[in-house]
Amino acid sequence: MSHVLVSKSDGILRLQMNRPEKKNALTLAMYETLVAGLADADQDPDVRVVLISGLPGLFTSGNDLKDFMNPSDLSAVVRFLNAIINAEKPIVAAVSGTAIGIGTTMLLHCDLVYAAEDAALKMPFVDLGLVPEAASSVLLPAMFGHQRASALLLLGETLSGSEAHRYGLVNKVFPDFDTLEAGALERVRHLATRAPASVRATKKLLKRAQKSAVDEAMAAELQVFGERLMSPEAVEAFTAFMQRRPADFSKFH
Ligand code: COA
Repeated sequence: MSHVLVSKSDGILRLQMNRPEKKNALTLAMYETLVAGLADADQDPDVRVVLISGLPGLFTSGNDLKDFMNPSDLSAVVRFLNAIINAEKPIVAAVSGTAIGIGTTMLLHCDLVYAAEDAALKMPFVDLGLVPEAASSVLLPAMFGHQRASALLLLGETLSGSEAHRYGLVNKVFPDFDTLEAGALERVRHLATRAPASVRATKKLLKRAQKSAVDEAMAAELQVFGERLMSPEAVEAFTAFMQRRPADFSKFH
């Protein structure tokens, strides 16, 4: 069975991450399915809006760390990020539970984000000897301020759904998964009935001012990210995760 469930009805293309046994960690194949879904959404005139979600209590634990240990190919991740950044039709995310790494940074590019009370957003790039991606190094300070962005990125602090709501990353917080599903679907269905060309043009205008900063940040981040993936610090972090022990960075400088 596919680890991303894709369905299309009533103008909504739905992408649901579904790999519970590995906490919805994103594999190369899952990125490819997401990219194909986003491309299909932009090409199919019957699709008006994309809904991305996960499972109850589990949005995604981010990139599959086994794939990060085999860092020859970042292209699927890059294709996914470019697809979500450049999508013409609106993307709505419904987040319940764990949203780690790209699970949080992808939300910066969604047009509407709904969360359940249990949402826990975390970007542990430094924990892994890595650096931020998805232009989060510019979008997070812009949204949260430098110091709060530093707490999220340098300390890897967790952001609850209501904190994310307070700072504008989340539109509304729902009590649980079922109310989140219902609330997100209600808004997605409403969006699907709105004038489609006007929606697309409005989305493009909303993103226009940040477009070049986002593209520039993506390029700068990816260069460092690729280097960091091979670094001894990252290798120690990935090995520690696999061995279920804390990483020891004491020997690095
Ligand atoms: N990549 C690969 N495998 C992952 C994973 C990831 N990002 N996240 C979880 N898994 C796997 C675990 O290795 C484990 O596999 P196993 O049962 O074969 O041993 C399984 O999913 C369950 O995870 P586990 O850690 O036992 O669950 P937990 O409830 O104790 O913790 C998390 C859940 C998500 C908090 C924890 O797994 C975690 O921190 N994952 C890594 C997150 C991360 O750093 N992502 C990359 C961000 S850039």
